[in-house]
Amino acid sequence: MDKISYNFKNRTAVITGGAQGFGLDIAKRFLNSGAKVIIWDIDPKMVEKSLNDLNNTNLSSNIVDVSNYQEVESSVKEITKNSNIDILINNAGITGPTATLWEYEIEMWKKVVDINLMGTFNCCRAIVPNMIKNNYGRIVNVASVAGKDGNANASAYSVGKAGAIGLTKSLGKELADKNIAVNAITPAGAKTRILDQMTKEHVQRMLSKVPRGRFLEVEEFTSLVCWLSSEENTFSTAAVFDISGGRSTY
Ligand SMILES: NC(=O)c1ccc[n+]([C@@H]2O[C@H](COP(=O)([O-])OP(=O)(O)OC[C@H]3O[C@@H](n4cnc5c(N)ncnc54)[C@H](O)[C@@H]3O)[C@@H](O)[C@H]2O)c1
Repeated sequence: MDKISYNFKNRTAVITGGAQGFGLDIAKRFLNSGAKVIIWDIDPKMVEKSLNDLNNTNLSSNIVDVSNYQEVESSVKEITKNSNIDILINNAGITGPTATLWEYEIEMWKKVVDINLMGTFNCCRAIVPNMIKNNYGRIVNVASVAGKDGNANASAYSVGKAGAIGLTKSLGKELADKNIAVNAITPAGAKTRILDQMTKEHVQRMLSKVPRGRFLEVEEFTSLVCWLSSEENTFSTAAVFDISGGRSTY
């Protein structure tokens, strides 16, 4: 199937968690569409591997923990010395362990919320002023069906993603009078490394809820991200876009 071509020439995108999985696939498609891409990730080995594999002068990276505001802010200061940030994909995330709420390790629960929710807040907090200055921005927050449905044995993840959905709706409205769009996506399960963090039974339970009867392909996810990140998306904002194979119908 031929993919629609997007024109991201003269656009700079920050993709968090871009060293692998969804983020890396978005990076590839953005680069092929002419964008400059900066990956923020905490995994130096995967970052190095991806930079080597893609071997593209429009691609660079920073080791940034999105849950650490100082790290996020200093990277933004560095980037905006030479360029604007036109596109922000808040994609970094972890699921944490599969456990009931009452058995969940407390520090781990906080960490999962910190990365999924505070990470999204930190990146928006630090980058939005640059977008306001330029009256241009496209922000895509990668949430999950877990944030809509609330998955059993995944309370921290469900809360982090539900929070990211609420953040999207608030921020989208705050920026609605500008050419800045803020949207969230709620994917169902896709075969990336993140599935290793959950038990096989939990992953099977997730899959059994999907009427399409299969996992989401990363390229299918990237297609939706591309439209939401493009100049063509001139009206949709503060919204939640579903890509769950029929699992969530709201
Ligand atoms: N794959 C799925 O089934 C699925 C379903 C719904 C939503 N999602 C969401 O999609 C996003 C991408 O997931 P993926 O499946 O590509 O997972 P992945 O594990 O393949 O990639 C996630 C990346 O985020 C990075 N990361 C983790 N914590 C970070 C931090 N604190 N700061 C910076 N980078 C950090 C990791 O190093 C990794 O490279 C996540 O937000 C995830 O919750 C995934």
